[in-house]
Amino acid sequence: MYGETDYEQINLEEAPPSDEPARQYYFIEKCRRYVDCFYEKHNRFPRACVTTFGCQMNARDSEKLSGILRQIGYELTEDENSDFVIFNTCTVRDNANQRVYGRLGELNGYKRRNPEMKIALCGCMMQEPEVIEKLKKSYGFVDLIFGTHNLYQFAELLCRTLESDGMVVDIWKDTDRIVEELPVERKYPFKSGVNIMFGCDNFCSYCIVPYVRGRERSRRPEDILREIERLVADGVVEVMLLGQNVNSYGRNLETPVTFAELLRRVERIEGLKRIRFMTSHPKDLSDELIQVMKESDKICRHLHLPLQSGSTRILQQMNRRYTREQYLELVRRIRQEIPDIAITTDIIVGFPGETPEDLEQTIDMVRQVKYDNAFTFLYSKRTGTPAAAMENQVPEAQRKEGFDRLLKVVQETAREQAAAHQGKVLEALIEEVNESTPGYVTGRLSNNTIVHIPGDETMVGKLFPVLLEECRGFYYLGKAVPADGCERGGVNGR
Ligand code: 5AD
Ligand code: SF4
Repeated sequence: MYGETDYEQINLEEAPPSDEPARQYYFIEKCRRYVDCFYEKHNRFPRACVTTFGCQMNARDSEKLSGILRQIGYELTEDENSDFVIFNTCTVRDNANQRVYGRLGELNGYKRRNPEMKIALCGCMMQEPEVIEKLKKSYGFVDLIFGTHNLYQFAELLCRTLESDGMVVDIWKDTDRIVEELPVERKYPFKSGVNIMFGCDNFCSYCIVPYVRGRERSRRPEDILREIERLVADGVVEVMLLGQNVNSYGRNLETPVTFAELLRRVERIEGLKRIRFMTSHPKDLSDELIQVMKESDKICRHLHLPLQSGSTRILQQMNRRYTREQYLELVRRIRQEIPDIAITTDIIVGFPGETPEDLEQTIDMVRQVKYDNAFTFLYSKRTGTPAAAMENQVPEAQRKEGFDRLLKVVQETAREQAAAHQGKVLEALIEEVNESTPGYVTGRLSNNTIVHIPGDETMVGKLFPVLLEECRGFYYLGKAVPADGCERGGVNGR
């Protein structure tokens, strides 16, 4: 909404506007003055680095941070030895937190050599009061800390940081606000994440997300569609609709809309070639959605359907609200309607009270469902969640042993699933030039499988029918073939 020239209309002599996002554009303009001063002093633009931990939602948030930094005049880099570094953190498992603390130590080393450097932290980990206490006590060199609910205020908070010497901390407990229309810097010109909802109300007993991302809020369909139309006009051919539980999209809107209906409307956007979405909660996946996927030319043949455990007893303890049998029945219905669909999942090993028999049930489930891929996680105790207070925590050695056993089966199954496509011609969206093999590019099939083919940078962002010549474990080597060679012709290779 704000083009370059609109900044000229912002009068910094006046008080900042109170409405959003106008207020943030005021602060972008104000920060630009600091960048000008920096340039005069150093004869170069300041450099900024945004480092992302965690999920696709965080990746999208980082694009928003980068967009604001770019508008302010920072040169974006991946080098953390920069003038401004921000860590967009994750706290879903404890190892993510530990990595942040480790990396902060390194940043402190850079800051000693460049005292003008500013260090910022944001994201899920910052919503935990114990983390803030620890940072205040032992990481005094951090300049700015904010959370998930006020990310849209980044320009304003950065301005406060540039104007002060002390640590700026601004964390909100929750919000019902969605502020849109701020600058975004996309990592890929041809594909983009699109938030359709924020927060989560499911309260799975192991999960910290509902506490750090707040209550579930859906964006209005008109706003989502308008954003996608603009993205398409800007060269995007693939969108990934993002939410913690997209299947419950739209329930709390003034005029309720189902996720399936939203997909129908997104599908109608001309010029858009592919639609993905993440993540589906099995308890809310409707037959209407299966039908929409089945009939669609654009929705990719991939469903991420977190299982978490194959034992009904553990699922109950996890508050997942489905049984092993219900999950299997759902998969049966999906595969019956959409036979070429790839199903991937998340599994947690070592949830409190999990016995070797429970794990056997999970392993059996992997064999039955034949996942195309599964992300396996060791259970991590998250303070404040109901599972953290459960008494029967599984000893670490048992958790690790179970994890390794599960991983073996997951890999076997994934290999078998991948091999089934050998010799097919399917459409791939070329995503990047292959860094390690000169003369090759890397693409992604509708079912999310990766394929490497001979090619060059002119192919990036375009769709090509590709012959899958050789399966190498989880990915393929292949080659582009003339368009009429594509199996059943459709853009999804159907
Ligand atoms: N421990 C381990 N894995 C977890 N996940 C969420 N919370 C935890 C936890 N406390 C996993 C779930 C979820 C994925 C994003 O992270 O499998 O689907
Ligand atoms: Fe966490 Fe469950 Fe919400 Fe997913 S659905 S974010 S696992 S509480």
